[in-house]
Amino acid sequence: MAYENIIVSTEGGVGLIQLNRPKALNALSTAMVIELNAALDGFEQNDGIGAIIITGNEKAFAAGADVREMKDKTFADVKSENFLHSWDHINNITKPIIAAVSGFALGGGCEFALACDIIIAAETAKFSLPETSLGIIPGAGGTQRLLRALGKAKAMDMILTHRMIDAGEAERSGLVSRVVPADQLMKEALAMAAKIAGLSHPVVKAAKQAVKAAEELPLSAGLKLERDLIHSMFDLHDQKEGMAAFLEKRTPKFENR
Ligand code: HXC
Repeated sequence: MAYENIIVSTEGGVGLIQLNRPKALNALSTAMVIELNAALDGFEQNDGIGAIIITGNEKAFAAGADVREMKDKTFADVKSENFLHSWDHINNITKPIIAAVSGFALGGGCEFALACDIIIAAETAKFSLPETSLGIIPGAGGTQRLLRALGKAKAMDMILTHRMIDAGEAERSGLVSRVVPADQLMKEALAMAAKIAGLSHPVVKAAKQAVKAAEELPLSAGLKLERDLIHSMFDLHDQKEGMAAFLEKRTPKFENR
């Protein structure tokens, strides 16, 4: 697929997707989300890829869903086309996805980052959910994921006041896992992704599956899933290799099986 709104590349075992509509501050149009989904599927199916990074540019990760595209839509339009359903596809990706955020991550841009597994932020990153100021509400998972990630107090504050928070507050709140100097963002994101990609892929997928399930399941069901998953790890070559390597004081050679 030829991409017009994103730039796709690889670096070792890491798949890289750069949002590329700089004139519109990477506003997420439907066309861009469809391209993102295709790129994610490509990396999902590529056995050589163990982790994925989604990033933007210095000024914006993404300043939201594309307001120009949404402005004139009617209720009938959004219902009949099931508007935003393409935004759900990221949930089907089993490999870890890191959002490397510099500048604005607003509205749908913030929600898209939240749908990733880890957010690493530049010191310049700014997050907000300004949808209520536009006469809508967050609609790509923001109301659900923000509450789970930050708790009710911060989620209500951000959603109802559309206050913009900086990288430091985002880190203190649990929205992002690390804040780094802006000129180090991609270096740090790539190092993080390469570290993950160097682990056994089925093990990483199981870990992601278990953590994601914790957002959905009651504790007893989550603990049962975790137990089933760790039991299944003992069927892997990489479990034998990982433990043997530890005892032999050498680096493991994982074969993703
Ligand atoms: C379409 C957008 C856009 C967006 C910016 N642009 N955000 N176009 N959709 N979400 C466009 C502007 O119209 C402008 O185009 C160009 O990008 C540069 O933006 P400026 O506003 O001129 O830049 P600046 O003065 O630096 O201000 C930056 C900004 C501001 C503070 C980030 O652009 C802003 O507030 N953007 C909108 C943020 C927002 O409300 N996002 C939520 C969208 S709703 P021109 O052609 O004039 O140069 C949403 C709903 C999600 O995300 C629902 C579920 C997915």
